[in-house]
Amino acid sequence: MTTSTFSQPLRYLSGFGNQFATEALEGALPVGRNSPQQAPHGLYAELISGSAFTVARAENRRTWVYRILPSAMHAAFEPVPHASWESAPFTAVKTPANRFRWDPWPEPAAGTDFIDGIATIGGNGDVDEQSGIVAHVYRANRCMTERYFLNADGEMLIVPQQGRLKICTEMGVMEVAPGEIALLPRGIHFRVELPDGTASGYICENYGSAFRLPELGPIGSNGLANPRDFLVPVAAFEQGSHPVSVVRKFLGEFWQARQSHSPLNVVAWHGNLAPCKYDLANFMVIGSISFDHPDPSIYTVLTAPSMHAGVADCDFVVFPPRWLVAEDTFRPPWFHRNVMSELMGLINGVYDAKAEGFVPGGVSLHNCMLAHGPDATTFDKASAAELAPHKVENTLAFMFESRRVFRLTRQALEGPHRQMDYDGVWDGFDSSTQR
Ligand SMILES: [Fe+2]
Repeated sequence: MTTSTFSQPLRYLSGFGNQFATEALEGALPVGRNSPQQAPHGLYAELISGSAFTVARAENRRTWVYRILPSAMHAAFEPVPHASWESAPFTAVKTPANRFRWDPWPEPAAGTDFIDGIATIGGNGDVDEQSGIVAHVYRANRCMTERYFLNADGEMLIVPQQGRLKICTEMGVMEVAPGEIALLPRGIHFRVELPDGTASGYICENYGSAFRLPELGPIGSNGLANPRDFLVPVAAFEQGSHPVSVVRKFLGEFWQARQSHSPLNVVAWHGNLAPCKYDLANFMVIGSISFDHPDPSIYTVLTAPSMHAGVADCDFVVFPPRWLVAEDTFRPPWFHRNVMSELMGLINGVYDAKAEGFVPGGVSLHNCMLAHGPDATTFDKASAAELAPHKVENTLAFMFESRRVFRLTRQALEGPHRQMDYDGVWDGFDSSTQR
């Protein structure tokens, strides 16, 4: 066998949910058979099923991997603690009927890797039921080297805010920078290196139906996130015998096992269950060219559907730089209440509905039917603005919008970085009879 391919320049395949085929060693992919009697190069064939076998073809996600050693070759898992990654349902505290906002999470202690640096804000559903989503932040300052991770509870949508991530997976290696996102399917081994030394950002852990591109309806066949802009890593593998640990999240608990080799030992693979990344700068923004502005669903990058048509467990929505040209219109987000619950983060710049207080790395949460909208300063400014074409620049905000309320963890509710005066954002409006 050749040496590891992990140090080679990164290369990607293009598309979302396609049937990809890639090999790091010539001839490693079997032809015409998924599991031949003897796989090429003496590799072990293994099937990873990310959906039930019998779901509709459009829903089916599975990948065949051809690896140096079977993934089954590991010792028994033993429980290990995790200080800050929690799983739904969240019942430790009552979730108040209030709006919430947090400053960026405090710096982690030295020696914190990507997994240990995950802290849970809140979420919904039930990890046992494979239903619901959970929002986290991560902050890391240590590369994972001999430590690998697998999440059996859900897929992970990663939204970097500071620092690049080099995500080494069973299917290959991706480098993801702030402004890009990564989507890691449930049940795929990975480890994370930090090319910039530190990194922080946001995660949506999705217990339910996998994220996919939204239907486009009257928009037609182009627009929003175009499939070809999603990038999937080519096959790459680590080899050699050395002790490593594999941490597995399973039923909301953490388990660790030792094994003699890297689980990232896949020399070739084919299928449509694969990690991918996407540059949010490639999102084609569609907005009003007459008056008013559309619902924020027009900014949906990916959606994780529930069993109810049109009602998502999670819509991942971005608010990128864009031109505003609508006439006779209040241009920032209007005052509103929503049956869906809205958790927002800011990757960089300034969000156009707030004058201050919502900073990069921070989070706001407006749960079901809680009134929110612009603050008084933004309202006054936008109400008096000359409505010439204007480009909103220096901004990249996002939202995890969920059909169910985000129940809070105690660490989020009682964290010192929570802004206890958030309701004051909506003080100071003049009564309409005085205006
Ligand atoms: Fe909102």
